[in-house]
Amino acid sequence: MGDIIQLLALSVLLAGLAYFVASVVNNLRVATASSITSEAEVNFFKARVGEIMDSRAVSKAKEELSWQGFRKFKVEKKEEEGGDICSFYLRPHDDRALPPFQPGQYLTFRLNIPGQLKHMIRCYSLSCGPDITQYRVSIKKIPPPRDQPDIAPGLVSNHFHNTINQGDILDIKAPSGQFFLDTSKPHPVVLIGGGIGLTPVLSMLEDIIVKEWRTEVWFFYGVRNKSDHIMSEYLRGLVSGIDNIHLVVCYSNPSEGDVEGENYDAAARVGVDLFKKLLPSNNYHYYFCGPPPMMNSLFEDLRAWDIPEAHLHYEAFGPATVKKKQEADVQTTEETGKSSKNSTERTVKFNKSNVTAKWTADSGSLLDLAEKHNVDIEFGCRAGNCGACVTAIIKGDVEYLSEPGEMPEAGSCLACVSTPKGDLEFDA
Ligand SMILES: Cc1cc2nc3c(=O)[nH]c(=O)nc-3n(C[C@H](O)[C@H](O)[C@H](O)COP(=O)(O)OP(=O)(O)OC[C@H]3O[C@@H](n4cnc5c(N)ncnc54)[C@H](O)[C@@H]3O)c2cc1C
Ligand code: FES
Repeated sequence: MGDIIQLLALSVLLAGLAYFVASVVNNLRVATASSITSEAEVNFFKARVGEIMDSRAVSKAKEELSWQGFRKFKVEKKEEEGGDICSFYLRPHDDRALPPFQPGQYLTFRLNIPGQLKHMIRCYSLSCGPDITQYRVSIKKIPPPRDQPDIAPGLVSNHFHNTINQGDILDIKAPSGQFFLDTSKPHPVVLIGGGIGLTPVLSMLEDIIVKEWRTEVWFFYGVRNKSDHIMSEYLRGLVSGIDNIHLVVCYSNPSEGDVEGENYDAAARVGVDLFKKLLPSNNYHYYFCGPPPMMNSLFEDLRAWDIPEAHLHYEAFGPATVKKKQEADVQTTEETGKSSKNSTERTVKFNKSNVTAKWTADSGSLLDLAEKHNVDIEFGCRAGNCGACVTAIIKGDVEYLSEPGEMPEAGSCLACVSTPKGDLEFDA
């Protein structure tokens, strides 16, 4: 009997001990977990507060420092980059601070060029990272089209190269544009610049480096060969020693003497075939700018690689290219419910010029139609970005081939990216 009582007492003691040990361990685990959670929460909270403060400070600075219309800038420095590209460093003539801009945005220039009856408007992307004292743009000298060598070369780009020098004063609008990277929220990105399309993504890269992102960043720069390859050492220097940023220079057509591993990293066009070889997954946001064929194939191949459209961000430097042109060409007819080539004809009356023209899907934008009939409409970007082609609608309505960078006020439209919805009277 005594043995049984001793055994029972021992069991109770052991159970009590086990309970005590378990509760201590649990308490410890909870305590540790809660301290981890609260530490993480504090860090998260701090980061959010930082982000909100940052974004508020940025919006406030933008509001206070931005400007309407054109502001005078002095060319501080002009630098040959090679490959027919020149960089221009621009300081505000009034010496006031500059507003923060989003990397990827562009400046709109207004130039009076001798021999031209009206001023010329052109957009150039900022190619620099954040700076409140000066901007940089990098401009490629545009030759005549290959198949029409007798035509005059690009008017404004050649004017910049041949005539604009250090000390000259230029009229510039505040940075704008919808193609930009939100650098306040680090996320894995692939930045792609083809030829002169390097400029906006270079600005993004510089901003990422300044903001010390720790997420995976891939930077693909595609050119034909060394003769087009600009800022080579500068780019290598920018990313050197930063483990999470990978720079890949691609030559589509290396020339004799171009050395892989020295001048370039891959003898290939920038595209999905290369991404499949190099990227650990396809889970990135893609930002790209380059010549039309590169833009088109990248867009289509990235979609085919299951990248959601919301992860694709791009900008064309000329007439909109990757802009779902099929949507404009193909119209669903109500009667049949089938898609068919839009054969609808509209009448467009250009009131000021006293010209009446027929528009069909093949006519392109209202700006194209106007030019075909010698109706004068000012233009800059031909891509719905700069606002130069804004024209009042007298009667009727328009639809957009691609979303404009900024919608014009009601009753007018951007002629370079709009088409008539029905018969139209236009103030041009
Ligand atoms: C948002 C945005 C950002 C940009 N960023 C940059 C940048 O960072 N760097 C950069 O270098 N560019 C950039 N561009 C392009 C730039 O704005 C200009 O379009 C470019 O410099 C060409 O302008 P241009 O006046 O020199 O050429 P244009 O005079 O407009 O001529 C363009 C081409 O058309 C040819 N041409 C002229 N007349 C005719 C005719 N009658 N028939 C057929 N062809 C003709 C010319 O020979 C030339 O080849 C950007 C464009 C946009 C929209
Ligand atoms: S030409 Fe720039 S918006 Fe139309």
